[in-house]
Amino acid sequence: MNITIEKMSALDIEKINLNDFDNFWTIGILRKELENPLSFYIVAKCENEIIGFAGLNFVLDEAHIANIVVKTDKRNMKVGSTLLEALIKKAEENSTLITLEVNEKNTVAIHLYQKYGFTVTGHRKKYYENQYDAYIMTKNFNTYD
Ligand SMILES: CC(C)(COP(=O)(O)OP(=O)(O)OC[C@H]1O[C@@H](n2cnc3c(N)ncnc32)[C@H](O)[C@@H]1OP(=O)(O)O)[C@@H](O)C(=O)NCCC(=O)NCCS
Repeated sequence: MNITIEKMSALDIEKINLNDFDNFWTIGILRKELENPLSFYIVAKCENEIIGFAGLNFVLDEAHIANIVVKTDKRNMKVGSTLLEALIKKAEENSTLITLEVNEKNTVAIHLYQKYGFTVTGHRKKYYENQYDAYIMTKNFNTYD
């Protein structure tokens, strides 16, 4: 599959049908994020079809992964890896570390983050639906650590 990564545009958002993405995010938040100068959002496309999207928020010298989601019928085809590589590259230009929260039950996402050098650095109790814990996972760009 030929995957291309582009900065997300307002037109891209109109084309996203969240039903195809497990309703993992909301269009309203995406629109707001696009206007936020401290956010960086990208889409993955294949032959002009949006097959994934992901975003970063910058806070001081840290980059926080707000989300990374792939179309349900395009998973396990390296789209998530390609999106994550693009986020890491952008974060590395501007930040000393990149971090995120992930549901402790989300084995696929945890595997993906570990593959790119993220390690568990913390734990948030009942972070999801007041039920499931979150792991905080971090990748440090500071070579002195
Ligand atoms: C997490 C997500 C983005 C991954 O996207 P993807 O395109 O399927 O990811 P890739 O194909 O690049 O990689 C998937 C990896 O998980 C592995 N994997 C697949 N099923 C797995 C399982 N049940 N347990 C562990 N690893 C698994 C694959 O083998 C692959 O690893 P590899 O590259 O070492 O072979 C996608 O599953 C998704 O959109 N999930 C819903 C949203 C979500 O949970 N986002 C994360 C929020 S923190």
